[in-house]
Amino acid sequence: KKVVLAFSGGLDTSVILKWLQTTYQCEVVTFTADLGQGEELEPARSKAQLMGVRQIFIDDLREEFVRDFVFPMMRANALYEGLYLLGTSIARPLIAKRQIEIAREVGADAVSHGATGKGNDQVRFELGYYALNPDIKIIAPWREWDLTSREALIAFAEAHQIPIPRDKRGESPFSTDANILHTSSEGKVLEDPWEEVPDYVYSRTVNPEDAPDTPEYITLDFERGDAVALNGEGHSPATLLAKLNDLGRAHGIGRLDLVENRFVGMKSRGMYETPGGTILHIAHRGIESITLDRGAAHLKDELMPRYAELIYNGFWFAPEREMLQAAIDHSQAKVTGTVRLKLYKGQASVVGRKSPHSLYSPRIVTFEDDAGAYDQRDAKGFIRLNALRLRLLGQRDA
Ligand code: ARG
Ligand code: SIN
Repeated sequence: KKVVLAFSGGLDTSVILKWLQTTYQCEVVTFTADLGQGEELEPARSKAQLMGVRQIFIDDLREEFVRDFVFPMMRANALYEGLYLLGTSIARPLIAKRQIEIAREVGADAVSHGATGKGNDQVRFELGYYALNPDIKIIAPWREWDLTSREALIAFAEAHQIPIPRDKRGESPFSTDANILHTSSEGKVLEDPWEEVPDYVYSRTVNPEDAPDTPEYITLDFERGDAVALNGEGHSPATLLAKLNDLGRAHGIGRLDLVENRFVGMKSRGMYETPGGTILHIAHRGIESITLDRGAAHLKDELMPRYAELIYNGFWFAPEREMLQAAIDHSQAKVTGTVRLKLYKGQASVVGRKSPHSLYSPRIVTFEDDAGAYDQRDAKGFIRLNALRLRLLGQRDA
């Protein structure tokens, strides 16, 4: 009877809105989230109004997104397949969560989204929906309708007086998804994995080759694993990430050209720009390097790929993700201190780190006279016992 649609205001979700109204004869409620994608949201409202939508939700979720999703993920140093900072993956559970809340508020029995039947996003949205409301009905138009091509979509839009942005008329350049953490681009020119990503695909970083010739130094303060201040000045999570995005943009930091394995089984080639997130990731490893014990640090690194895969595959609300999160959060108790970074031509490098909880001991590690802090003779037995097996093997196999 009533369906809540995740509505960006773009061409695809506008067509979906109309399609839901005509195919299902149901009342559509739209939900548009501000996740820091840097687009005007009022046009989404007027478009929805124009199509007769009476309940329109437009929510600023930026702080919640960074505080409760991006930062917890950053504590894990999460990377999918070694490189991808999961900028799209981590936004989907929050959209799903808010959509289910709205469905409750307005008494809707169904939700709908604009993800295709080929990708990860459908899985992430729908695992989120089902986790938060086991009885929810889901309408995924891309899996149902017969608008199987871009042209069919545009023809449908024209037939229903849906405004079509000029750049979408001819070749739509590629498919993008943006939020405060990243912008992703897939499709069209990127579908040949041999072809270098053309310059015009990049939208939020300068080309590192054109970045300033002088490096810029910054400091980031961490408290219990979360960044809290830039150059000594405290900021909210979303404000801090936005400021890091500006710095990353200027220095061309966080570009990634990747062929990845989608959960549904196919490989896809994408380009990501994660300027502030890349700086955060590197800085967080920097502060962990002096505050985490080796055992804890290495175990974190073992768990990380599992944790990243859970987020990529859409299992944010699954108990195993929460178990790993609890372990990761526990590890961050002493991850407090300051990292100094150098930003230069596409790179963010840690050049200094300090912490009141540092485990780094210059007295122990020094190559100079350590005044008895460490007894080098201890190492002889340490090595001989570790070598015992190797010597027995060597004797047997000689
Ligand atoms: N391949 C990336 C991921 O799975 C980005 C997906 C982009 N989604 C989109 N609707 N354009 O996380
Ligand atoms: C989509 O298929 O809607 C975008 C790509 C993805 O979800 O992986």
